[in-house]
Amino acid sequence: MSRTSPLPLAIVTGGARGIGRGIADRLARDGFEVIVLDRDGASARKAAEEIAAGGGVARAVALDLLDSAGIAAFVEAERPVAALVNNAGIFDERAFFDLTIEDFRRMYDVNLIALFALSQAVARRMAPGAKIVNIASRAFLGARNHAHYVASKAAVVGLTRAMAMELASRGILVNAIAPGLIDTPLLQALSPERMAAQLALQPTGKAGRPADIANAVSFLAAPEMDFITGQVLLVDGGKSLGGGMGI
Ligand SMILES: NC(=O)c1ccc[n+]([C@@H]2O[C@H](COP(=O)([O-])OP(=O)(O)OC[C@H]3O[C@@H](n4cnc5c(N)ncnc54)[C@H](O)[C@@H]3O)[C@@H](O)[C@H]2O)c1
Repeated sequence: MSRTSPLPLAIVTGGARGIGRGIADRLARDGFEVIVLDRDGASARKAAEEIAAGGGVARAVALDLLDSAGIAAFVEAERPVAALVNNAGIFDERAFFDLTIEDFRRMYDVNLIALFALSQAVARRMAPGAKIVNIASRAFLGARNHAHYVASKAAVVGLTRAMAMELASRGILVNAIAPGLIDTPLLQALSPERMAAQLALQPTGKAGRPADIANAVSFLAAPEMDFITGQVLLVDGGKSLGGGMGI
């Protein structure tokens, strides 16, 4: 689709697979022209082709979000964006005493600083009514064995709140979604034992699907959504309620 497409434009980062793919599918069904942005260009192209085959309007952009010059060139070449979904992220498991400064930096570079860089570039050209939805994680509340991930996602929540305050005067609404356990390739970093332990903590007893997150994104990105900003919506099957048995 060309820049003359009449549809509102959405960007979904990390849209080639997992949660991002579910979000891209949903926003295309909602009537957005969707840019499936991913460092995995081949999978992004396949996703865009499948969305188009299903009747949606989508195209792929191969970009590693660690490439700040690439971000600037990409944003400059596009028309203003109606909905930016910052979904791309990385995850791995490491006990606190095994973590290195490099582990921490790598996690922050992708999960936080790339999100900031793209949001700043895109928001400069957004029109009033535009939306930004950041995919954080329920882990921002705390979790064992991935302190670097937890800290990066808590920082995404803080950044969301700060962006919401500064961008409100431009009519841009910024919210975050904090998914719980969602069945995607990202969870391959969890051992089978850890996966079973995680599922046991779910009040609903199951992992969510990308479509569950996409449903929440659809709500927060919708053109008619006009009065929610700076919020964090937990989509976690109730895990954040805690596991208390009584008092
Ligand atoms: N799966 C879960 O249980 C879960 C839970 C909470 C939060 N999340 C968050 O949801 C988001 C998506 O997770 P997922 O499970 O779908 O992950 P995933 O690993 O299945 O997919 C992530 C996608 O992001 C892309 N990506 C990663 N780094 C990139 C970069 N530098 N530039 C461009 N693209 C990049 C990958 O190529 C991949 O296509 C992440 O931010 C993750 O932290 C996931």
